[in-house]
Amino acid sequence: MPQVTTNEAGAPIPGTSFGGPSFGGPTATLIFDDWYPALRTEKLRGGKLATAMLLGIPLVLGRRADGRVFAMRDSCPHRGIPLSEGWFDGNRVTCRYHGWEFEPCSGRCELIPSLTTHDHLDATRIFATAFPCEEREGHAWVYVPGPGSGKKSGSAERPVPELKKFGPKYRTAHLMAELPCNVDHGIIGLMDPAHGPFVHQAWWWRSRASIREKTKKFEPIPEGFRMSAHAPSGNSAPYKLLGVYGEPVETTIDFVLPNRRTETIRCGKKWFSSLTTVTPVTGSTCRIDVVAAWNVFYRVPLVTPIAKFFGAKFVRQDQVTMIQQAEGLKHNPSLMLIDDADKPAKWYFALKQARLDGTGKHPMDGPVELHWRS
Ligand code: FES
Ligand SMILES: [Fe+2]
Repeated sequence: MPQVTTNEAGAPIPGTSFGGPSFGGPTATLIFDDWYPALRTEKLRGGKLATAMLLGIPLVLGRRADGRVFAMRDSCPHRGIPLSEGWFDGNRVTCRYHGWEFEPCSGRCELIPSLTTHDHLDATRIFATAFPCEEREGHAWVYVPGPGSGKKSGSAERPVPELKKFGPKYRTAHLMAELPCNVDHGIIGLMDPAHGPFVHQAWWWRSRASIREKTKKFEPIPEGFRMSAHAPSGNSAPYKLLGVYGEPVETTIDFVLPNRRTETIRCGKKWFSSLTTVTPVTGSTCRIDVVAAWNVFYRVPLVTPIAKFFGAKFVRQDQVTMIQQAEGLKHNPSLMLIDDADKPAKWYFALKQARLDGTGKHPMDGPVELHWRS
């Protein structure tokens, strides 16, 4: 009997007590029929095949000679050997077992070497599973249809996520960390305001002593919520640095299903923009990717390596915490969500449930103010 304990002070976290004795901790329900970043496209240089896993599905990815990226299930439809074990000549992927050749964007089988004139089998009616795949911000985004939904066409209804940019000149960076917990914990950890003073203590960021009461405005947006434009908290050093331009700084943070947090900071003509995704690798593990673009300090040398260094430290702090958390989660504890600091997490679970049920019901009626100390 699955056990969910409700605490007086808070509601149980949906799903977290249902994982059972699975490898690597409790699993999350996954949202299919949407785009997820599979890997960095720099891995596809030189006609190489690369592998990745999304939502428990093994993938083989590559770039065709004409530049198009592709993603197929890493499994030959004949006997299931991974296609990544085979060969790729820039146009066709050849299985290493019996040499069937596939056009990788459609998955169509173009050749079965063993066929003779006595056979009536039309190879081109056989397909390996190919997923819609698009390149943006250096990610190979893959549209993952639900098991057996055959909803490949749904990829057209949902646009490929894109990082907002506010001018033609900018610098970019990418950071990645694998997390041993399920995607729900990755996401609520990402939107959780209360861990900052404890997890992200550093002389250049903030100290535990700098904790203070905050009031933030939130508003509903389609399949998500927005922390409305506001002046960033005065106790975070990088934001203080932006103040050197002497203009008011405004920042907006959106969360949108299935897994995307976008942050834009604007200060006159200067801007910083980031897209953070928490992607389910399997039901019980996930990966956090941050892509960022900015034109602040554009001319200052070494800004990119410095930004990457501090960004990596920040992400690493979250990662270390979640590795520790995963240890605790292995024993399937009951958990809680409290007001107001865990309100965004509650909205996330409600939005996700509405998407899975197909009701599309938004948990927020309108703008609200939340208060917490961080
Ligand atoms: S298993 Fe791939 S061609 Fe036979
Ligand atoms: Fe964090």
